[in-house]
Amino acid sequence: MARIICITNQKGGVGKTTTTVNLASCLAAIEKKTLLVDLDPQGNSTSGVGLNKHECEPNIYQVIMREADIPETMRPTELKKLFCVPSNGHLTGAEVELVNAEEREFRLKSALATVEDDFDYILIDCPPSLGFLTLNALTAAHSVLIPVQTEYFALEGLSSLMETVDRVRESLNPGLEIEGALLTMHDSRTRLAAQVSEEVRKFFGEKVYNTVIPRNVQLSESPSFGKPIILYDIRSSGAQAYLNLTKEIVAHD
Ligand SMILES: Nc1ncnc2c1ncn2[C@@H]1O[C@H](COP(=O)(O)OP(=O)(O)OP(=O)(O)O)[C@@H](O)[C@H]1O
Ligand SMILES: [Mg+2]
Repeated sequence: MARIICITNQKGGVGKTTTTVNLASCLAAIEKKTLLVDLDPQGNSTSGVGLNKHECEPNIYQVIMREADIPETMRPTELKKLFCVPSNGHLTGAEVELVNAEEREFRLKSALATVEDDFDYILIDCPPSLGFLTLNALTAAHSVLIPVQTEYFALEGLSSLMETVDRVRESLNPGLEIEGALLTMHDSRTRLAAQVSEEVRKFFGEKVYNTVIPRNVQLSESPSFGKPIILYDIRSSGAQAYLNLTKEIVAHD
């Protein structure tokens, strides 16, 4: 059965999508059959693995609306073991359309139940909010991976994220674990980055990965080529960091 990990932080631009795309592709590269579920209307993970988000119908929107099943929406990628359930702007409408629907937070969970046995890992890329879509991801997941950018204000919002995780545990998903917190876009030359890392380690304790993702220009370039970093520049520091993270996660499961 797949381990389902959602990548969440309601703060925008902290490296959720970069982490989802690259962790998913590294897992696929070490022969773990992996499904990347893009749950963000921005569709950045979808384009990050080389799919055209405007030509992906049906997609996660139809899944959430119960108009399609996961297998119908799943696309192959350049990596043999990596598949993607794409997203695009249509997903924005789902929250409003389901406002009075019963069990609306369980839509993704019940859809994934049909394919859980077919994969080793399912990774869910969340939008930068704690709304309906993120609640669906937290309800469906076994664990949550939290990217934290080592920048000023990095800790802002982590308390409300943890409160949300606690609330989800109380009602929607009692088994939800913290997979880990990941320091991203780290610039080892600055004192600020070192201070922020220290604070994040105080906040999450042992749950912070040893692997730190450096600020790396190849990581920011690869999405415009629709390629995960291991297919764009395997020798880059970004690729090496995501390979190390992958080893940590696999060892821990
Ligand atoms: N380690 C890194 N080094 C350099 N650039 C990075 C790194 N990680 C992410 N980026 C760049 O920073 C920007 C934000 O990253 P990303 O899209 O992964 O964040 P996000 O949390 O998914 O954003 P959003 O909240 O909008 O979904 C992107 O342009 C990405 O290419
Ligand atoms: Mg994103």
